[in-house]
Amino acid sequence: MDQVDVTDRVWRRLLEVRGGTAELTGGEWSPGEQRALELYGPLARRDRGPLTVGQIGQSLDGRVATVADDARDISGPDGLAHLHRMRALSDGVIVGVKTALHDEPRLTVRLCEGPSPARIVIDPHGRLPNDAPIFHPDGTRRLVIQAVDQLRPDGVEVIRLAASDGRVEPADILAALQREGFHTLLVEGGGFTISRFIDAGLLDRLHIAIAPVLIGAGQQGITMPSPPDTLAEAMRPTTTAFSVGSDVVFDCELPR
Ligand SMILES: NC(=O)c1ccc[n+]([C@@H]2O[C@H](COP(=O)([O-])OP(=O)(O)OC[C@H]3O[C@@H](n4cnc5c(N)ncnc54)[C@H](OP(=O)(O)O)[C@@H]3O)[C@@H](O)[C@H]2O)c1
Repeated sequence: MDQVDVTDRVWRRLLEVRGGTAELTGGEWSPGEQRALELYGPLARRDRGPLTVGQIGQSLDGRVATVADDARDISGPDGLAHLHRMRALSDGVIVGVKTALHDEPRLTVRLCEGPSPARIVIDPHGRLPNDAPIFHPDGTRRLVIQAVDQLRPDGVEVIRLAASDGRVEPADILAALQREGFHTLLVEGGGFTISRFIDAGLLDRLHIAIAPVLIGAGQQGITMPSPPDTLAEAMRPTTTAFSVGSDVVFDCELPR
């Protein structure tokens, strides 16, 4: 498996592709830079239809947290840099309310050059407090998807959607965000939220970043609400593995 080499010049090209000022093809690249274009190119492009991508960082045994709920920094340093690159190439990043409550993520781009995406939290019952870091004003769009009337801080955009049994259809979420002008959306977690998008057939790609750590027990990453009974029925996406230093990223193309 070749190493991905995200040099300054290849990253600059990817940001230009994202901004519509350069094409993905053309130029002389080293094998590692070429791998970087293959891994990040689909997210950078804006000349195709809207794209929805999931990303999850997990252990060798598929966990995203210990039994005691320690979930911070499962990914190694290069896995984290990978996540920040994905954010920088996305227009908006979506998290479920449990991630927002538990991790208090900022969802900004800090480990590479590039713009921070809009921050979007799915909070059907209005559980996230108004002083959560996601809502802090910093010039970036902030949106909340909710199924209840709940006043939010100035500047936070509320998308009110209907829920059935407490669940909002991922298709309604995606349609509402696309009406708001979002082209490339990153579903960053947690596993519940990503799994609902996969189950609804709404993810175009899924990046699973595996860090070389064995946890042994604890929360699983992807847990589908309606898994298959037999392996013959299991989803087998077209998958390419990329070595990104400390972690290995499996880039899965999902059927839609
Ligand atoms: N390793 C990683 O890459 C990674 C990334 C992010 C988070 N995490 C970890 O994952 C854990 C949290 O993940 P999680 O899977 O438990 O929860 P989650 O996906 O963060 O949030 C789930 C909650 O979001 C709301 N939600 C999401 N989609 C919805 C939908 N379609 N309809 C209605 N409500 C929806 C629901 O809120 P209600 O409960 O109010 O109904 C649901 O219970 C944390 O420990 C965090 O550290 C790991």
